[in-house]
Amino acid sequence: MNVLQAIRERRAINVFDPERTIPADDIKKIIEVANLAPSSFNLQPWEVVVVDEPERKKVLRKCAFNQPKVEEASAVLIMIANPNGVEENIDDHLKSWVELGYIKPEEVQKMREAPFGMYGEKDSQARKFFAVKNTAFFAMNFMIAARGFGFETHPMDGFKEADVKKEFGIPDDRIIPLLVAVGFMKPGLELLPRAFRRKIDAFTKFNNY
Ligand SMILES: Cc1cc2nc3c(=O)[nH]c(=O)nc-3n(C[C@H](O)[C@H](O)[C@H](O)COP(=O)(O)O)c2cc1C
Repeated sequence: MNVLQAIRERRAINVFDPERTIPADDIKKIIEVANLAPSSFNLQPWEVVVVDEPERKKVLRKCAFNQPKVEEASAVLIMIANPNGVEENIDDHLKSWVELGYIKPEEVQKMREAPFGMYGEKDSQARKFFAVKNTAFFAMNFMIAARGFGFETHPMDGFKEADVKKEFGIPDDRIIPLLVAVGFMKPGLELLPRAFRRKIDAFTKFNNY
């Protein structure tokens, strides 16, 4: 399937087939593709908890306003944005840049300062935007890739973040922008037509706001 087809076919599926599972290795294959998402300074400040055990999905459903799809989907991914991704990932990134020939070893120190200047102190709003923005790209990539592999998905922000953090052991300093359910549509159901989209002329301008 080509990428345009995957984007066009992706729908937020409301009713998943509760009988079908997806092997962990297949979920990892989708994550591998999602992980090619671009990120600021290539810092990749995302983390994921894949919830695929029936009992754990029940717990997550309770945190998500009892949305049935959380339990019925084959798995639900807790998408986690890490505002500390700057200090945690910068050295691996710069090391790879040296190894791959992007920069010379003597340029590392200067390059290392840039994201700290741009994304501010830990706990700053800039850090939170940084983490959430990049994790959203990862999540979108996941949904397109999942469709490419033949799966259905559903993004959700209908959940209590504090409850999800508590139940799944996610540190307080992380942000959870969304959950993404993945699985198969329940057989015998027909999707309603694609939900309305605004005309692009209503929000697209060229050269000036
Ligand atoms: C960040 C985000 C959060 C969402 N949260 C929920 C949710 O909690 N529950 C739900 O039923 N749908 C949720 N949706 C799905 C949207 O309602 C759906 O994407 C939209 O109606 C367009 O439908 P389509 O994706 O099939 O084109 C969410 C979508 C996004 C992108």
